Amino acid sequence: KKIAVFASGNGSNFQAIIDVVKSGELEADIAILVCDKPGAFAIERANAARIPTFAFSPKEYSSKEAYEKAILEKLASSGVEFIVLAGYMRLIGPTLLGDFAGRIVNIHPSLLPAFPGKDAIGQALAAKAEWSGVTIHYVDEGMDTGPIIVQERVRLSEKETRESLQRKIQDIEHKLYPSILQMLLTRGEVQHDEKARTY
Ligand code: GRF
Repeated sequence: KKIAVFASGNGSNFQAIIDVVKSGELEADIAILVCDKPGAFAIERANAARIPTFAFSPKEYSSKEAYEKAILEKLASSGVEFIVLAGYMRLIGPTLLGDFAGRIVNIHPSLLPAFPGKDAIGQALAAKAEWSGVTIHYVDEGMDTGPIIVQERVRLSEKETRESLQRKIQDIEHKLYPSILQMLLTRGEVQHDEKARTY
């Protein structure tokens, strides 16, 4: 299947996906990177992997509808069937959702519905949460609100820091996203026992 990855920043999850496509563990073709930050490191990763990029500045468009239409044109011309959000820091609007209903997934660094939105790791630390983790979910119009596909838990230690928690969460993300994408793209679903798996 041809997929698009959407990223706004560093793109370490994007890199993990590039790596498993190369190794054959993920049977997908990354047709395009969509990036709303023209200076993002994710773009360098795409260039290094010879993946075409659509980088745009939202402020150069008159509306969200206008830039989402531009994105849709790029997706159509590259034959994209499925959208993978990987650190894309914008809500998906009705224009994209209309064409890709049920075919957009996101990864979020908390156990949703806890700590949605920005800086989920900081929110978990500030709340002195005992548990946090990673959620992969379908995307709807809300902020991290769509149907949950899978979650994995992480216990916060007494001396947890932002760096240590971020490392734990990203380690999980980089393994979990590729394996769940492989199930979704080849079988269209995630098995129940796999949903229940915890590390
Ligand atoms: C990840 O923690 C992801 O869960 C969240 O944004 C972060 C992106 O990191 N949505 P990276 O750009 O993939 O390194």
